[in-house]
Formats: sequence, structure tokens, C-alpha cells
Amino acid sequence: MAIRTIREIGDPILEKNCKEVKEVTPRIRELIDDMLDTMYDASGVGLAAPQVGILKRIVVIDCSPEQDQPIVLINPVLVETSGEQTGQEGCLSVPGKTGIVTRPSYAKARGFNEEMEEIEVEGEDLLARAICHELDHLDGHLYTEKVEGELMDLSQLEEIDDDEEYDEEEFDGEEES
Ligand code: NI
Repeated sequence: MAIRTIREIGDPILEKNCKEVKEVTPRIRELIDDMLDTMYDASGVGLAAPQVGILKRIVVIDCSPEQDQPIVLINPVLVETSGEQTGQEGCLSVPGKTGIVTRPSYAKARGFNEEMEEIEVEGEDLLARAICHELDHLDGHLYTEKVEGELMDLSQLEEIDDDEEYDEEEFDGEEES
């Protein structure tokens, strides 16, 4: 168990196609454990192996409170999508930034678990977004390619949020008087 270094945008490894996993060796198990540690340490909701510099088709996801276990998907393939959602997205490889991305509102992926048993993972909303985002990493794609408008600084956005709260407080004051 260890925290690995997260590769950041501009690193060519993030633009490469990942290779299929043929067998879950002790090294692959260690990689998956480290990916989970690294994701939780960085407060992320998903991580793909190329983000820690390993060109293998493995993703981990943990983004839903109903989920009691993180999702580990080996050699995942998107088998079904439907609907559309437009919202804010971020990535541990693009620190401090966020952007608006349209994704399916439902996604289903098929892949393998750590026992190399075939599994299906499906989800809506944030989980659908996470599935699509993480699978994109395995083909060398970052969400920044899909951003509508400008990539924004998270710190700027927090300032806007603070202003909105302030306005709401003012408004409430006027109502009372
Ligand atoms: Ni990402």
C-alpha cells in the first residue's frame, strides 16, 4: 500500500493508449491497492492507471454514498449509454481546474474484477460521469478536450460562491425589514 505520484496534464503518458491486463498478478494487485490509496489521499472519486504512470486498462471509482465498496474495473468497455447531463467536471491530473462537460446521464461498462470474473457496472449522474471520464483516460483522453467554454480555476469559482452567499444574506435582510 502506497501513495503514487499523480501524473499531470502535459505528461505524454496521459495521452497514450493503455494495454489490456491479461492476468491479475501480485504486482497488479499492488497497483490497484495503490491506486485506491492515491485516489482517497487526493480526495478524488476516480483514478485510472495511466494517471499513476502505468499504461494498463484499470480504473477505480468511488463516488456514491450508497456504494459500500469501491469499483475496480479491469479492461472495461462501455456497453451502453443514454441521456445527457451537462455539468462541472474535474480531474486529479488537472489540479485546481474545472470545466463544463456534457456526458451521458446513464452509462454501463463491462469488465473484470480483481478475480478476473466478468462484471458489469452501471450508474446514473455522477457515477455515469465518472465511468465515462475514467474510461476516456485509458484511451489517452482528458476531459479538457471536451470542455465547453473555458477551463476555470477552482479558486475563482469559490470566490463566486462566496459572493452568492453574501447576496443571499443581504436579500434575506431586506425581506425582514
Ligand atoms: Ni481524470
